[in-house]
Amino acid sequence: MALIAWDDAWLVGHGTIDYDHQMLVNITNQIYEIRHDPTIKNAQVFQTLQQLVSYVERHFAREEAIFEKTDYPDAAAHKQMHRELERVVREIVDLWRREPDLLNFDEVIEFLRRWLIEHILKHDHKYKPFL
Ligand SMILES: [Fe+2]
Ligand SMILES: [Fe+2]
Repeated sequence: MALIAWDDAWLVGHGTIDYDHQMLVNITNQIYEIRHDPTIKNAQVFQTLQQLVSYVERHFAREEAIFEKTDYPDAAAHKQMHRELERVVREIVDLWRREPDLLNFDEVIEFLRRWLIEHILKHDHKYKPFL
């Protein structure tokens, strides 16, 4: 069973953004699955984590480019949250690369799961009326 089951209640009504959010859910599910597969090597987990970092960065850039074209008043604070997550995921990947044994993967996955759902539902949904 997947870690996160996509829910259409998360849709913001913008094709690109909704696609991105589904991709982020997919990659997070993939990290969860490969982590619990004993045949998967550390290097593959690292690759998937890097995939997540790069998708997160591209998604945030796309979302922020959309803010520029709207009157969404909370853009600055919203971007700040994006920067913070980017920092955290980069740290996670870096730690995994250097000291995989020090990383509590269950905590990481739970953090990602919670952040994603909360951010989409609580914060991304706030710009919905401005799209
Ligand atoms: Fe988003
Ligand atoms: Fe966002």
